[in-house]
Amino acid sequence: MVIGCIGCGNMGGALVEGLLRSAGSGKRFCAYTRTAARLAGLEAQGVQRLSSALEVAQQADFLLLCVKPAQVPGVLEEISRALTADKVLLSVAAGVSLSKLARMSGGLCPLVRCMPDTPALVGKGVFAFAFSDNLSRERAEEILALFRNLGLCIEIAESQFAAFSGLIGAGPAYVFAMMQALSQAGVTLGFSHEASRKMVQALVEGCAVMAEKSPEHLAELKDNVCSPHGLTIEGVNVLDRRGFSGIVIDAVLAANARGLAMEQES
Ligand SMILES: NC(=O)c1ccc[n+]([C@@H]2O[C@H](COP(=O)([O-])OP(=O)(O)OC[C@H]3O[C@@H](n4cnc5c(N)ncnc54)[C@H](OP(=O)(O)O)[C@@H]3O)[C@@H](O)[C@H]2O)c1
Repeated sequence: MVIGCIGCGNMGGALVEGLLRSAGSGKRFCAYTRTAARLAGLEAQGVQRLSSALEVAQQADFLLLCVKPAQVPGVLEEISRALTADKVLLSVAAGVSLSKLARMSGGLCPLVRCMPDTPALVGKGVFAFAFSDNLSRERAEEILALFRNLGLCIEIAESQFAAFSGLIGAGPAYVFAMMQALSQAGVTLGFSHEASRKMVQALVEGCAVMAEKSPEHLAELKDNVCSPHGLTIEGVNVLDRRGFSGIVIDAVLAANARGLAMEQES
């Protein structure tokens, strides 16, 4: 199997690096990106640099399209004649639907729409996938297995992409905002910026692992920290009085609404 990537910037580069680590033997990699220097790191890991997007599309069985959404039509126009029914094209372009990809790619090649979140850049992503009708179940499972080494993979209906983007795509911004606020509180209480940030990072990582390992409801995990007449319940009461949960839910719903509008616009 030859895995090809067109557009090796932040996301394309991270996906190829992750797949290089996880794909095992029997896979060959090739790539083309506009600024050739960006491929130096991948070339050193065995990725063959080709001289055009078309060449990658001709050589690859599984093609990752990782250019910006506005660049997708131009690239697909260039490579569509190489996109035959025996290949698979996966696009990570935000807001570009399977039907648009099918229209722009000539309609023969099976398609995958994939939405990663930014932690995919460090190999801890959450990936949503939707597959075109002409992609067999067997190939869809192969692709899911390939990406499972890069993070959590879920298959969703295409109509849920805006919801996924509002919750998980935008999710790092919500989590970083919470981390930044906690870190700022730590500085206010006299910890250094560095110590505060490090402690908050470890706190969030520890909570994520605890949530993963525990069968208890998240509300129970929260209650377990709140001793009667203790200090945590005083802090949690402030969150509840100020409507913390409602604010977070409203943020996700607002992002979802914008995502739905963007799907219509693009
Ligand atoms: N970054 C994220 O967290 C994230 C999350 C979800 C989805 N995505 C999706 O991932 C895609 C890429 O985003 P990104 O953040 O990785 O952007 P990026 O860092 O700008 O990468 C895009 C790459 O494509 C290259 N490129 C542009 N036109 C090209 C062409 N005609 N042929 C070959 N290569 C071309 C660019 O080359 P130059 O270096 O010369 O500009 C750049 O290296 C977008 O569609 C975005 O919606 C990204």
